Amino acid sequence: MASSTSNSTSFTPDSALDLLFSPELISQEVRNAMHPDVHIRPLASTDYRRGHLEVLSVLTATTDPGEGAWVSHFEALRAAPRTYYTLVIIDKHSDQVVGVGTVFLERKFQRGISCVGHIEDIAVDEKQQGKKLGLRIIQSLTYISENSGAYKTILNCSDKNIPFYQKCGFEKKENEMARYT
Ligand code: ACO
Repeated sequence: MASSTSNSTSFTPDSALDLLFSPELISQEVRNAMHPDVHIRPLASTDYRRGHLEVLSVLTATTDPGEGAWVSHFEALRAAPRTYYTLVIIDKHSDQVVGVGTVFLERKFQRGISCVGHIEDIAVDEKQQGKKLGLRIIQSLTYISENSGAYKTILNCSDKNIPFYQKCGFEKKENEMARYT
């Protein structure tokens, strides 16, 4: 996986990046609560070079598809407007990704043509855990989901992460079923 080897100590501003969605969709309240050393923004088309996959690998085994396939996948997500919202948290000193998370919106015929927000792939760099970055990611994704009209926002997690999601305002409901191929 490619990480930038740049010695730059300033992060790239949103205005200089090609982003997955408008940064205006991120809650100002969450921005104000962020630690001053980090910045939250939508995934950018160049985040392969900022260690996006390395942070995702904290969650599960992550194979590197190569930069070309990564960028094609980014474009595929963006080609489905108002559906995929992937956020990253950037360390302002290194310009590297230290946290990631996604909410995608599933459109429903029920509840007056409403939608459900599905939170997926939450991960925080091991060295940065315990600094409320996970909480800020979940708050931001929930804000996007609720402001998009979702009547509920849901996720699957292991038993060990239940206390974290409870602290983020979620409650345990029903069961998960899975079939792997
Ligand atoms: N058990 C109990 N409490 C926890 C746990 C836990 N496993 N993790 C966090 N908390 C608590 C914190 O102590 C804090 O409580 P406080 O407000 O009383 O101080 C609160 O939850 C918020 O914690 P954060 O500092 O925001 O958590 P962090 O930034 O470390 O992120 C995360 C949590 C995302 C689970 C991180 O530890 C991580 O990346 N883990 C590995 C990958 C993973 O398991 N991701 C979630 C998969 S589920 C999914 O993707 C839908």
